[in-house]
Amino acid sequence: MMKLQLSRRVTVACGFFRLFRRRKYLRWLFALFVFIVLIIGHIKVGREYGNNFVELKFGGQVVPPKNATSNIKGSMENHQNSKVDRTGRMFYKEHLLINTAKTIQNDLNEQQRCLSWCNKSPHKGGQYFLSAVLLVRIYSSDLAKLSTRELLQWLYYLRYAGFEHVYVYDAYVSSHESQKNALEFLVTEGFVSYVDWSHNASPYSVTGTQESAYQDCLEKWGHQSKWQASIDIDEYPFCPQDTKPNFMQRFIANFSRELPDVSQITMQNFLFLGTPLNDTQHPFLIDRLKRRTRGPSNALVKPIYKTSHVKLTHVHHHDLRSGISVDANQNKIRLNHYWGARLQNWGEDTPDILAKTTEDNTMQENCKKPPKLRSCLPAK
Ligand SMILES: *[C@@H]1O[C@H](CO)[C@@H](O)[C@H](O)[C@H]1NC(C)=O
Ligand SMILES: *[C@@H]1O[C@H](CO)[C@@H](O)[C@H](O)[C@H]1NC(C)=O
Ligand SMILES: *[C@@H]1O[C@H](CO)[C@@H](O)[C@H](O)[C@H]1NC(C)=O
Repeated sequence: MMKLQLSRRVTVACGFFRLFRRRKYLRWLFALFVFIVLIIGHIKVGREYGNNFVELKFGGQVVPPKNATSNIKGSMENHQNSKVDRTGRMFYKEHLLINTAKTIQNDLNEQQRCLSWCNKSPHKGGQYFLSAVLLVRIYSSDLAKLSTRELLQWLYYLRYAGFEHVYVYDAYVSSHESQKNALEFLVTEGFVSYVDWSHNASPYSVTGTQESAYQDCLEKWGHQSKWQASIDIDEYPFCPQDTKPNFMQRFIANFSRELPDVSQITMQNFLFLGTPLNDTQHPFLIDRLKRRTRGPSNALVKPIYKTSHVKLTHVHHHDLRSGISVDANQNKIRLNHYWGARLQNWGEDTPDILAKTTEDNTMQENCKKPPKLRSCLPAK
């Protein structure tokens, strides 16, 4: 039966061809026929792969490629929809998955950038050029209202400034004050080392709580850093002439190039005083206080030091093994110290405070610079 049908078809076709052979058009027509078949096939393939490849259609939603603004959750949802929606036009090809993976990776990178307040690549082994050590206690009755949010802001700022690592000594008194969980993602990222310092927290003393933390850090991890600063979470190092990312490393490199013997550089203390602005509208500590003392407020400097040249740590000047200690010029570097309403007993601004201070908006440049920083604000 099949043979019969086949032979009849062949006969019909042969008759057809014989008709055309006589007219000598066969070759041209045949070539044209093959050409058309090829073109139709090509268009069909293009429709199937091409459109989806360009628009990344997933379950009817369009995820534009090379646009990292859609968040991870969104991408994941689209991805899930694609698994559920297996209707005809869905092409679950490898290159689509690769593109989705790329989009998710972009989103992750975006978040990382966001959190680190700068685009610096993470430290890759070896010694840090610059680290910081912090002794901190976060507690709810703090009148200065320094919370986990302010701690994270300070850490992001240090990273922006060029600090590659921060050793956080957490002197919590009751266990709910512990910052361990809040800092865990920065520990995982390799930016923070968390040290439980609660056994030295109470009763608080400068030598037993604070200086002992700095000394512990120096002895255990001093060798990991060339330079280190010991500062508090309301103290922001600031170079008036250089506010670009990494300014602290440039400052130190400049300073020690000009003065190779220097082992300790101290930053002068400029207080930001007065009633803070509304902290819902101004979530950043450095954006809440804008009145600064005209000159250094007191002799309470804070040190940046070569770890290998320090013998004994203190709060303001460490004892050196070798090298010299120099007070840095206030026009080159200063410590912006966010004290707020402390001197007015946490009350309204007094004429005295207003007279002592001048408006300073220079930090606001730093607030604006980090892209999308506002959306990266950690929850309280
Ligand atoms: C991504 O899409 C958003 C929303 O449509 C748009 O505002 C943004 O400019 C786009 N970004 C890029 C890099 O195309
Ligand atoms: C470091 O030196 C360079 C070149 O002299 C200068 O442009 C830069 O502003 C200096 N940075 C700091 C923070 O002192
Ligand atoms: C701060 O601002 C928020 C939002 O604008 C407002 O709801 C709140 O009442 C303000 N707080 C004070 C103390 O003014």
